[in-house]
Amino acid sequence: MLKLLMLSAITALLLLVEGGMSARTQSRTKRELASPLHLRGIRDPFGSYCQRRGGCCPGRDDQCTVPYQDTICYCDLFCNRTVSDCCPDFWSHCLGTTPPYPPSSCERNGHRFHSGATYKENCNLCTCGQNGRWECELHACLIEDDMIQEINRRGYGWRATNYSQFWGMTLDEGLRYRLGTQRPSRTIMNMNEIQVCGSVYFNAADKWPGKIHEPLDQGNCNASWAFSTSAVASDRISIQSMGHMTPQLSPQNLISCDIRHQGGCSGGRIDGAWWYLRRRGVVTEECYPFSPPQQTPAEVARCMMQSRAVGRGKRQATAHCPNSYSYHNNIYQSTPPYRLSSNENEIMKEIMDNGPVQAIMEVHEDFFVYKSGIYRHTDVNYHKPSEYRKHATHSVRITGWGEERDYNGRTHKYWIAANSWGKNWGEDGYFRIARGVNECEIETFVIGVWGRRDFTDTGHFLHN
Ligand SMILES: *[C@@H]1O[C@H](CO)[C@@H](O)[C@H](O)[C@H]1NC(C)=O
Ligand SMILES: *[C@@H]1O[C@H](CO)[C@@H](O)[C@H](O)[C@H]1NC(C)=O
Ligand SMILES: *[C@@H]1O[C@H](CO)[C@@H](O)[C@H](O)[C@H]1NC(C)=O
Repeated sequence: MLKLLMLSAITALLLLVEGGMSARTQSRTKRELASPLHLRGIRDPFGSYCQRRGGCCPGRDDQCTVPYQDTICYCDLFCNRTVSDCCPDFWSHCLGTTPPYPPSSCERNGHRFHSGATYKENCNLCTCGQNGRWECELHACLIEDDMIQEINRRGYGWRATNYSQFWGMTLDEGLRYRLGTQRPSRTIMNMNEIQVCGSVYFNAADKWPGKIHEPLDQGNCNASWAFSTSAVASDRISIQSMGHMTPQLSPQNLISCDIRHQGGCSGGRIDGAWWYLRRRGVVTEECYPFSPPQQTPAEVARCMMQSRAVGRGKRQATAHCPNSYSYHNNIYQSTPPYRLSSNENEIMKEIMDNGPVQAIMEVHEDFFVYKSGIYRHTDVNYHKPSEYRKHATHSVRITGWGEERDYNGRTHKYWIAANSWGKNWGEDGYFRIARGVNECEIETFVIGVWGRRDFTDTGHFLHN
């Protein structure tokens, strides 16, 4: 019995080998059996496939192909006979005729598309239906042209713009992949009354030149928890060390290595980030650069370095920097963070005395298109269905404040805050937001930190 099984296995193997030898016949069969491309929908009717290939082939030629979507299409006359697998431009380029489309087709920009054809309209996929009409998805997009126009027309005190990095994303994707801070559950408030600050304008970058770090870009990584924490710690360490060291701490080090109860690019908590900065410490951005995820949902990149204790509370890196050009793998640790009251004046005093603070805020749909001015959440989408009006939690770094008079003589107070959507967003990566009114809950949960754990340079350079 066993012998018989083995024999049939060998026969099967032999058959396989033979199949491989007659590859050409096989591929013919395969080609002829394949489900016709035109029935699956020519998704790219403007494509220049045969043209780019440099021409068409007479008769049957199985090599006469061009990559097409996730498969191939043909530019030989055989494809016409079976009308199964011709490239979209076969008829126009090779035959000089119009394609033999099935009767149901849709019109767009003066061209006909047959059923199954698709195109993307901002964040929505439109498909040519059997009824000859385009059927489009109805997602709320991150960039909605009418929203931008409404905001700019009505004059809310800030301007909106289109961002190519947000174009084509849905609002849900924006909220899922561009933010990423969990709102802290505990609400411990210390409510000291602080006297009003005298200054009407303050910018940490003016008081501490060279010590306030530029906004980074979190890409499609839902990890503002890591970006805002490392940014505030970077500024505070630079200020507190009086510029003796000005590290830009690595968000990636937190994203990949602070993984207990944290979600990396799928969101996380700032208290966990502060715990890690205090107990383990991180290296600089130069040493451990941010690598934005290329796919969604994001995979968490493996942790490339940890730190280990080397006595008297100091720590050193367990590995070289995960890149070939940087070898300063000093570990920076922070002091414990503290929560401020939601009092505007206390927050101002803290920034003025000690440097930028971290704040948690609710990001609404209109925040993504912010370009300049003093942001306030607007009501332009109030008449729309609820999927156009959504918000999720984010964290940012407040670096200063000011006030501005409008043409009616009214004074508008604002915070200056750094976002983590790159420098081409907002006012060079920063935004201003209404102050003293808890706009988007930005004054509810504000964190300060004294800075570095001690003044001596505990960093270590790892020799091998
Ligand atoms: C290609 O196919 C079309 C439609 O079936 C037909 O009208 C035309 O004559 C064919 N051309 C050749 C060269 O086979
Ligand atoms: C926004 O920008 C994208 C990419 O730059 C562009 O394709 C799109 O047409 C723009 N949308 C609007 C409404 O201006
Ligand atoms: C983004 O982060 C938030 C906060 O941690 C989390 O609630 C949400 O599920 C995350 N979204 C994704 C897509 O990971």
